[in-house]
Amino acid sequence: MYRNYDPKPNINKEAPIILGIESSCDETAAAVIRGREILSDEIASSASVQSLYGGVVPEIASRAHTDEIARVVERAVKNAGLEYTDLDAIAVTYGAGLLGALLVGVSFAKSLAYTLNKPLIAVNHIRGHLSAAYLVEKDLKPPFVTLLASGGHTAILYAESEAAFEILGATLDDAAGEAFDKVARVLGLKYPGGPNIQRCAQDGKPVVPMPKMLKGGGGYDFSYSGLKTAVINYCHTKEQKGEEYSKADVAASFQCAAIDVLVQKTVAAAKEKKVKTVTAGGGVAANAYLRESLKAACDREGFQLVLPEKRYCTDNAAMIACEGLVQYKLGNFADMSLNAKASIPLAATLKTKGSV
Ligand code: KG4
Ligand code: ZN
Repeated sequence: MYRNYDPKPNINKEAPIILGIESSCDETAAAVIRGREILSDEIASSASVQSLYGGVVPEIASRAHTDEIARVVERAVKNAGLEYTDLDAIAVTYGAGLLGALLVGVSFAKSLAYTLNKPLIAVNHIRGHLSAAYLVEKDLKPPFVTLLASGGHTAILYAESEAAFEILGATLDDAAGEAFDKVARVLGLKYPGGPNIQRCAQDGKPVVPMPKMLKGGGGYDFSYSGLKTAVINYCHTKEQKGEEYSKADVAASFQCAAIDVLVQKTVAAAKEKKVKTVTAGGGVAANAYLRESLKAACDREGFQLVLPEKRYCTDNAAMIACEGLVQYKLGNFADMSLNAKASIPLAATLKTKGSV
């Protein structure tokens, strides 16, 4: 059916040149890396339009990706100073995410791979977030403990190898980013909630009582639904009584409660696993309070902290290319039957074929 598509990847190549394409949510992104070096990194976001609707409208996201993708990919290759023929592989996010949005990236990547007869790599978006740390610290090698905190997943993981992670703890209900977004809505802050809570919290103090369970407890699991409900109840009670309250104080109190538990448990897990290094990834890892607290805790306990720059914590294509590199070295390639997947269980996400 796909005549003449027969790429011949050289998986032993020292520093392959990989184009990454990301379109799982509201960012259309493309980046080129050579080994772990970022040569270009392009992004077009529909967040400002989405903000008018209070969240991501899938149809608007898909249309925006369709409008932007060719331009963004073209810019990524050009700004890397390369031609399409220089690429060793094309890596694309195939899941999880919004199906229509993912399909734009997957279809584009497949067409490109087919036309150029280049290897195609299917990248799991969450593994992309986990791989972002490799872009910061070129010599980073497992084992390490990593904090994954995005809009869809929140977990503390042990990286056994570049290919496999063990779940040490995870949220029992909402993801951290989801909690930020929901609380932002209660406080009347715009989408995206996380950065707006951070901004609002700057003018407040963490003086509003928050549920205790998030401050400690055994194991490495945590829960955000109690915290979210506490914020909703606090605000509604105040409003019903006609009492004034400080949104900034609520935001600061929520932010501390939501993040302290992540920092505390990540460091405890790193101690138990006797690793030297801690990494973090996902949109919530862009939070300034999280970054400061995690850095202070790692310094105190003597762990090296590898924290991607903020733009590599939120959705981007360099991390997709970087995870593409992991899969390239493992020899895991996709073919023209690749399809997009809206959801992928975390356990399936963390294991991959082969070992490095
Ligand atoms: O990783 P990401 O960009 O997309 C997913 O894969 O989910 O994460 C998006 C999430 C959103 O819930 C957003 O509110 C949150 O990350 N986020 C933040 C910050 N920046 C983004 N949360 C707290 N503070 C931030 N500065
Ligand atoms: Zn993401």
